[in-house]
Amino acid sequence: MERFAIRGHICYSEDKNRIQTIEHGYAVCENGICQGVFDKLPGKWKGIPCIDHGDRLILPGLVDLHVHGPQYTFRGLGMDMELIDWLNTHTFPEEEKYQDEEYAKKAYEIFVDDLLHSATTRVCVFATCHKEATLWLMKRMEEAGLAGYVGKVNMDRNSPEGLCEKSAGKSAEDTEAWILEAAGLANVRPILTPRFIPTCSDELLEKLSALRKKYRLPVQSHLSENQKEMEWVRSLCPQAACYGDAYRLHGLFGGECPTIMAHCVYSNEEEIRMMKEQGVFIAHCPESNANLASGIAPARRFLDMGLKMGLGTDVAAGTSLSLFRAMAMAIQCSKLRWRLQDQRMAPLTAEEVFYLATKGGGEFFGKTGSLEKGYEFDAVVIDDRMLRHARALSVKERLERLIYLAEDGQIQAKYIKGKQVLPM
Ligand code: GUN
Ligand code: FE
Repeated sequence: MERFAIRGHICYSEDKNRIQTIEHGYAVCENGICQGVFDKLPGKWKGIPCIDHGDRLILPGLVDLHVHGPQYTFRGLGMDMELIDWLNTHTFPEEEKYQDEEYAKKAYEIFVDDLLHSATTRVCVFATCHKEATLWLMKRMEEAGLAGYVGKVNMDRNSPEGLCEKSAGKSAEDTEAWILEAAGLANVRPILTPRFIPTCSDELLEKLSALRKKYRLPVQSHLSENQKEMEWVRSLCPQAACYGDAYRLHGLFGGECPTIMAHCVYSNEEEIRMMKEQGVFIAHCPESNANLASGIAPARRFLDMGLKMGLGTDVAAGTSLSLFRAMAMAIQCSKLRWRLQDQRMAPLTAEEVFYLATKGGGEFFGKTGSLEKGYEFDAVVIDDRMLRHARALSVKERLERLIYLAEDGQIQAKYIKGKQVLPM
């Protein structure tokens, strides 16, 4: 049995309205599972190895429900376009390059290294439609000690020549081969990833649905992000009651099938009801939605209605891998929405966004995203000394400042499933 404790100022969410803080507390890990957080180390664990992090903050590892690995290396370019033009001008040409395995390795190495050194411990990643490059990314993430899901992307229509899979049959065949080859990985698992309705034929969605049943895989995609995209989906799928229904018609929208849908900026009543009923997770991606001028998703509404939700960075439509940045943006965008668009929806609070970045998104992976007893031991130790202050701050105030001010390079230690992955 492997047991240890870490000590520091511990912050975690039990629910969305309160952040628990324990000064100089102990978080105990037994075989990868958190045994809880304590003021004093209980007698039964006396003498177990304990690292005292002194005045540092200890948080549950942060969760990114939506990020595109191959887009990492062109962040910040083309940010003056909306979704469809941005995809055609910047994103698709970049993703085509992942056909070349040497290029893919070079670029993914940078992505994995920066992800490892961030406060993120669980991720749902879109790769590209290339099987070999996607497998390489998964193996590299696993080696680095990261955990989560990675998807080989499917796209068989309305895509450029170099990225469009030859047929629905070929796309599904490659996907099945990829699933089988990824089976040996323990912590980085496959997730089915139809890119979005405009690039996936009905035939392809049917085939992915069959693979989902056969291998019991989760699904991730994009939903109701941009107005032009909404119109396009309506013309492509007149039979669907709403955008989400175009996935649901093929059994790819929650229920039996654990599902993450990114954005949901323009989800109508019908779609929101369907997401609630089917337990679909929303990846709220405020920075992306601002950069591509998509709009502001009604996160307050989703939270109050009890929908499942976490945060996504959506790199490269979002520029930063930092979930702290995503938390601050979620608050800031909710304030603009409240002021300019709908006074009935109060802005999000620090408690709520911290919940979304930890326990809210973490639920997709099972019991992750908290330091309560029984949760997988994902934790980050953060050095906030560079945020200088002239008066004493409470632990909660220090966490609030981190949300707005955190930069890269402050992670002193990182644990995933009880294994220390930083420092290496
Ligand atoms: N919709 C389809 N593909 C993409 C993508 O790569 N990024 C974003 N933000 N939306 C998409
Ligand atoms: Fe995306």
